[in-house]
Amino acid sequence: MFNFVFQNTTKLVFGKGQIAQLQSLIPIDKKVLITFGGGSVKRNGVYEQVKIALKDHAVIEFWGIEPNPAVETLRKAVQLGLEEKVDMLLAVGGGSVLDGTKLIAAAIAEHEKDAWDIVKSGTAPKQIPFASVMTLPATGSEMNNGAVISCHETQEKFSFRGDYPVFSILDPETTYSLPPYQISCSLADIVVHCFEQYMTTTGQNRVLDRWAEGVIATAMEIAPLIKADSHNYEVMSDYMFSATMALNNFIRMGITQDWSTHQIGHELTALCGVTHGESLAIVYPGTIDVLREQKKDKLLQFGSRVLGIVEGDDDKRIDEIIARIESFFKSLGLATRLSEKNIGIDVIEEIARRFNERGVKLGEAQNVTGDVAREILMRRL
Ligand code: NZQ
Ligand code: ZN
Repeated sequence: MFNFVFQNTTKLVFGKGQIAQLQSLIPIDKKVLITFGGGSVKRNGVYEQVKIALKDHAVIEFWGIEPNPAVETLRKAVQLGLEEKVDMLLAVGGGSVLDGTKLIAAAIAEHEKDAWDIVKSGTAPKQIPFASVMTLPATGSEMNNGAVISCHETQEKFSFRGDYPVFSILDPETTYSLPPYQISCSLADIVVHCFEQYMTTTGQNRVLDRWAEGVIATAMEIAPLIKADSHNYEVMSDYMFSATMALNNFIRMGITQDWSTHQIGHELTALCGVTHGESLAIVYPGTIDVLREQKKDKLLQFGSRVLGIVEGDDDKRIDEIIARIESFFKSLGLATRLSEKNIGIDVIEEIARRFNERGVKLGEAQNVTGDVAREILMRRL
């Protein structure tokens, strides 16, 4: 286990009816900018609950943060926040609304800087306080200090780090209105978050190996249950909790990680508009195939502990593990091949070119360069 410091400062408020807690969670003297997406919260009753809880607070609203939040949209919210002199932000919606809000919080605190420059620097040194009512379990953004922002002008998508949300409210009942495709993308995102922190080498943190395996096994177990009934409170609670625990910096303590699938997936989103979770379903089987020798022991550990694959030689078992992971994504109804999204070699070449130009070296061995990314994607045509 490597040396590490762990501190997660988000207060998690979980359960039915908990949106009402906003009233006491936000100090009455704060002027709050509430941020929203495209309107799902008006259709599922979340907006009304928020408005009732904050009826005595000074609030203004910003609407229209899109999936894969664009800096071009967020600059408008920064402008509004500065004009109105807000001193706190509340994101109400999915990961995109919250990630966008994390950038708004940074760009208000450092208004002399352009928002995209903050993203490209990789770190927000200062942010005004922000919190969330999360309605889509997927990104873990509700309890982590990362955000992923897109720039339409340059067709780029990058992440930055900063503060944690002051609090996040997770009411599983808010997920009842999620469209099946969005649930599928989120389940893929949850398992790949675990995989990218877990699938490196064995024996670095035995406790967290079991933890990551547990979250992945849970997501796989509940996927068909959610499909059968997405209004089952207990199942949707497990779903929501899995997403938070997959990416709140918990399962990465003291270990190496490999985020190459996310980085390649972000390029597919930036260049071709592929939804985040589906981009991972396409790329991940290729990553573990190309890096199968380097990740062999961990793949075998996962195969035997989670999938019960114990027969045959190593290569045969790894083939079966990769096939089972791909068939899990397929069972969610997601594309797992680039051709299903009409993406061809030209895009693969552009991603390889960008990575090589940026000098990208990803993964636990820092060996996933543009050329390796090309190899991964060529196996996913
Ligand atoms: O915009 P509205 O109308 O609210 O609708 C949204 C949106 O269209 C809808 N939705 C959200 N909650 C709903 C709902 N519809 C019905 N009922 C509900 N309860 O779902 C659509 C997608 O929302 P979005 O926020 O884009 O999805 P998600 O939460 O998956 O976020 C994806 C973004 O997060 C980034 C991704 O790259 C992508 O940009 N990520 C952020 C991470 C982080 N902060 O740590 C890590 C992740 O790996 C990921 O990269
Ligand atoms: Zn993700």
